[in-house]
Amino acid sequence: MSEQKVKQTTVSLREMKKENKRIAMVTAYDYPSASAVEEAGVDLILVGDSLGMVVLGYDTTLPVTMEDMIHHTKAVKRGAKNTFVVTDLPFLSAHISLSETVRNAGRLIQEAGADAVKLEGGREMLEEVRAIIRANIPVMGHLGLTPQSVNQLGGFKLQGKDLDSAKRIFEDAMLLEEAGCFAIVLEMVPTPLAALISEHLKIPTIGIGAGAGCDGQVLVIHDMLGITHNYMPRFVKTYSHLYGSMVESLQTYSREVKEGAFPTTEHEFGMKEEVLYQLKKELQLS
Ligand code: KIV
Repeated sequence: MSEQKVKQTTVSLREMKKENKRIAMVTAYDYPSASAVEEAGVDLILVGDSLGMVVLGYDTTLPVTMEDMIHHTKAVKRGAKNTFVVTDLPFLSAHISLSETVRNAGRLIQEAGADAVKLEGGREMLEEVRAIIRANIPVMGHLGLTPQSVNQLGGFKLQGKDLDSAKRIFEDAMLLEEAGCFAIVLEMVPTPLAALISEHLKIPTIGIGAGAGCDGQVLVIHDMLGITHNYMPRFVKTYSHLYGSMVESLQTYSREVKEGAFPTTEHEFGMKEEVLYQLKKELQLS
């Protein structure tokens, strides 16, 4: 019998950092991908608002709504009952007022079943982070390239290259820890900066395009499995090429249907001769 997977917690993640154990996280957006992630024993699932781009086909994450995040988190939870799930607070869901922010974070926990929420931003979001944590909802921070600010950042670009921006990201990480975040995603920042931040934090850093000095890594599942086919960021390692396999299988299916090679008897259901005979008779068919 396979061993029951141990579900991570905010406390066990901190222990992992202390013990120098790396944390593996990946996104999932639906039941089958979440089941596969759980069966593979990956530590954490992120229901990222990247679903807007890789599942819904938007150019950015900005159109993603609370309803989208709740819908997809529910499906993920049905597939991964024993994995710690973090769900993104989508664009504008944490910016209108503190009460709306806490309400939205609460919906992700209470309605959708997430274990924690992720919130993009540093010093400018500290009040929101504290308010959510006051409601006993664990918060994962997100610094560096924050895709919800893509229009302000001028594109999906490396952040923290110069002294001022590197210092700001470093300080923001310390502030988020102080505010009570249990972990921080560092996205597209130089490896030495991410390593420096990781060394100086007690909470784990989860890197994406931030190098091997982070305490853990996260990738978008559609990227790492090669389902994404139009653009692949340089920091992604592609472990499979599923898009090609999908197209090939669909071409074969389409050809077989047209040629009459599918379905065959092994995919069909029969009927008793006498029932068919009687049916035709009653319907007065020849
Ligand atoms: O939305 C997402 O998938 C993310 C990761 C890229 C960290 O925020």
